[in-house]
Amino acid sequence: MSPTDHCMRPVFSSKVVPVILITDVAHAEPMALALLAGGIDVMEVTLRHPAGIAAIETIAQRVPHMQVGAGTVRHPDDIARVQSAGARFALSPGFSEPLIEAALDAQLPFIPGVMTPGELLRAQAHGFSLVKLFPAEQAGGVGMVKALRGPFADMHLCPTGGVTPANIQAYLREPNVAMVGGSWLTPADAVASGDWARVTLLAKQAVALAAG
Ligand code: 3PG
Repeated sequence: MSPTDHCMRPVFSSKVVPVILITDVAHAEPMALALLAGGIDVMEVTLRHPAGIAAIETIAQRVPHMQVGAGTVRHPDDIARVQSAGARFALSPGFSEPLIEAALDAQLPFIPGVMTPGELLRAQAHGFSLVKLFPAEQAGGVGMVKALRGPFADMHLCPTGGVTPANIQAYLREPNVAMVGGSWLTPADAVASGDWARVTLLAKQAVALAAG
């Protein structure tokens, strides 16, 4: 199947994509509701914990207004697993042709991860115009984003890794940044104690910062 960006690029209304580690599926629904209450209707649930798939399934079934996707997707087989759990999109921390093929075959909107100009070239060759720049801060942060814009002005980035309330605006000011991702909206201690009000507050703060 030939790649077309039209069907592979997910569309988000939010400029902030929370990257979420769920270790207890009981946290999935209240977390999704807390983020929605804070104005964020997209979430990337990582596959770093076995509870991730069940969490995606729970959110897809019980919180339909939440656009739930899967993160840390590394193996081609993950694509079918997350799609049948109800993920509406998937992201990878890196660039992998077999993974891209699996996402294309499944017609699952997909964002490959890149960290180098070579990976950006390969992503472009596969028809992608939106990529995850990971790990963004370690790759050079806003300076790297600016440098990539020279040769890749037509590529849109989702910097993730080290994005915080302190630097989110600097990233989003860059014209080649479509959105940012980060784990700061769901701190482990807030999640463990069920402090969903704090998650809502962090989401509201992020939305306000993203609005400039
Ligand atoms: C990711 O998987 O995208 C990152 O680990 C998120 O990075 P952060 O924890 O620095 O926000």
